[in-house]
Amino acid sequence: HYPRIPKPYWDQTCALPIFHYPRIPKPYWDQRINMCKALGMNAVCLYVFWNSHEPKPDQFDFTGQNDLREFVKLCEQNDMKVILRPGPYVCAEWEMGGLPWWLLKKKDIRLRESDPYFLERVDKFQKAIANQVSDLTIANGGPIIMVQVENEYGSYGIDKQYVSEIRDMLRKNFGNEVTLFQCDWSSNFLNNGLNDLIWTMNFGTGANIDQQFAKLKEVRPNSPLMCSEFWSGWFDKWGANHETRPAADMIAGIDEMLSKGISFSLYMTHGGTNWGHWAGANSPGFAPDVTSYDYDAPISESGQTTPKYWELRKTLAKYMDGKKQTDVPSLIKPIAIPSFTFTEVAPLFSNLPEPKSDAEIRTMEEYDQGFGSILYRTTLPELKQPALLTVNDPHDYAQVFVDGKFIGKLDRRNGEKALTIPACKKGATLDILIEAMGRINFGRAIKDFKGITGNVTVTVDNEGHRFVCDLKNWKVYNIEDTYDTYTSIGEFYPIETFTPDENGRLPRGVYRGTFNVKKPSDTFLNFETWGKGLVYVNGHPMGRIWEIGPQQTLYMPGCWLKKGENEILVFDIIGPKEAKSEGLREPLLDQLLVQKPLTHREEGQNLVLSSETPVYTGSFAPGNGWQEVKFDKPVTGRYICLEALNSINGKDVAAIAEMYVLDDKGERLSREPWIVNYADSEDVARMNRSGDKTFDLQESTYWSTVPGIPFPHAIVIDLGATHSIEGFQYLPRMESDVPGAIKDFKIYVKNTPFKY
Ligand code: GLA
Repeated sequence: HYPRIPKPYWDQTCALPIFHYPRIPKPYWDQRINMCKALGMNAVCLYVFWNSHEPKPDQFDFTGQNDLREFVKLCEQNDMKVILRPGPYVCAEWEMGGLPWWLLKKKDIRLRESDPYFLERVDKFQKAIANQVSDLTIANGGPIIMVQVENEYGSYGIDKQYVSEIRDMLRKNFGNEVTLFQCDWSSNFLNNGLNDLIWTMNFGTGANIDQQFAKLKEVRPNSPLMCSEFWSGWFDKWGANHETRPAADMIAGIDEMLSKGISFSLYMTHGGTNWGHWAGANSPGFAPDVTSYDYDAPISESGQTTPKYWELRKTLAKYMDGKKQTDVPSLIKPIAIPSFTFTEVAPLFSNLPEPKSDAEIRTMEEYDQGFGSILYRTTLPELKQPALLTVNDPHDYAQVFVDGKFIGKLDRRNGEKALTIPACKKGATLDILIEAMGRINFGRAIKDFKGITGNVTVTVDNEGHRFVCDLKNWKVYNIEDTYDTYTSIGEFYPIETFTPDENGRLPRGVYRGTFNVKKPSDTFLNFETWGKGLVYVNGHPMGRIWEIGPQQTLYMPGCWLKKGENEILVFDIIGPKEAKSEGLREPLLDQLLVQKPLTHREEGQNLVLSSETPVYTGSFAPGNGWQEVKFDKPVTGRYICLEALNSINGKDVAAIAEMYVLDDKGERLSREPWIVNYADSEDVARMNRSGDKTFDLQESTYWSTVPGIPFPHAIVIDLGATHSIEGFQYLPRMESDVPGAIKDFKIYVKNTPFKY
């Protein structure tokens, strides 16, 4: 397929920064492109986020932050080539992986498949993109050298038919001259690899590079080699440790790739910010991403150089073919803003919008709402004693009130669905206030409805008789996340009118205030005293805040500030402890307030295996890559334990990147319902190496025990249901020295929970 690659590029290795234009303030685009160029990079790799370009069906937006054409032109003016990744799905820790929420209004839609409605919408979107930039391909004398077909389809399914349909749309829109490529993992790229496309690999820093390209070299010995996403760092989730990756690993990988003539895209070179409600969420499980997309990338969220930046620049200098790197453009100097207090608040419960009446409960999407919060209200039957309230399922953060009194919360991250409500008279008011966080952006769970997705029941235990009452006849209050919703919510009162409740919190609601800026520049607004919600400054959606961290400040670009008075508005659904803020010169991205242990072992808990019989005893081989074991015969069970007896390198640490359990047909079981019951040791002091990383669908993250704790090590998973099981697949860490690789092991499978 070399005829499709423009000849001048045949032997050129590309070093590409990845950055996503909607995540960077438009006035800074040019400076950031130049920062990438000064690293010694020669092309920009960018995703197109469908949902930010088509907020409502057929209403396309390519203006302001969404001005794709302007961005591509800027790259061209700065002598940078462009690689376009128009999805339709992009992942990227962006709401629903870039797909618009309104697709879910067709409840039975099959996303990322040959569903006629899905393809019809993709086609319209792809045409809209082509209208903007198809004249800017290299064949037309423009900067776009390659276009990507779909995104890591291998981690979603096997469907060459669908991937071909996306390819054909791109061909139709961009012509036959443009080079099309696919990106996937070395473990699954063949599943959907189309013969006429270039295949590239995605992997993280530290990975064994030869191993990553071994399969590709075997099946296509003459293929150009490219790592289309070399993960410089990683993304942060609410309630988990701030992620970092060592600069040394990134540099070593890049040096090795360039010395071997392998092109790479650095994901991310500059991450930016998930403004407003655009942050996505990871799955299996539900792990919503924070607002900052700093990514521990060489260029920080706010456009500052980091030590990684300078080391990278030094390394790339070796591969400039005698050319000099351009100068690093001058940087923005952040400012501090003295502490200021908010002045007024419109409490939510006294300012609710007009409700809709509905006999049944429905999802947010069915009420034509895409983002924000939703309140479901009904009346309770007489409860003579406390009863169990079950919400099936609350997406994503529910707060329950009876007659206006707060009873408790149901946090989807922890799988919370039920709580006890007190005895009450017939007709007491039940309120369930739900805040939607980002829609899942990875795996099959991207079909992620918000609000309440099923029903709500009250279970009463009356002298041994259980009554389950399915609650009906709801009043539904839609609080769509827009600036207008909050400013027109109703009456604002001086904050002094309210005294904090017994938890020291001011009311839930919209808070407004102003702050003064002498000379606008970048700053980081501090929200450490706030609960959970969304922030707007001068009408700009700044993003989500949540007291649990690790992110405690929001990046405030100076280009969106005014000299003199600036307006700030916070919609806090928990209520602040103090309604104040300040501008800091440095962000607070690493301040976790842990509400629930990050580990899966209770104090004093010890797994007892002495009375159990293993279903399999064996040894894993050394080296990288997937390994599989098959039992002699199928066994039935719901709880599975892997006991690691020792390691290949003789050290005391055990690590697992990913694992699957195979059913009696040899198929992988769905890991959606999996829960870690126990892990003897988890390295979570600074990093996220807990047991659930063994099934988070990310081959570069892993469970690791804490160094210094001796073997044996064990992890127990509840598969969620009983299965007939016949095998097990295991992926060790990706580094060439395979740290933590397990040698001898035993597998136990049981119908009942293990004993501790
Ligand atoms: C994959 C996806 C990217 C991003 C990274 C993780 O490689 O293709 O969009 O989600 O994972 O940051």
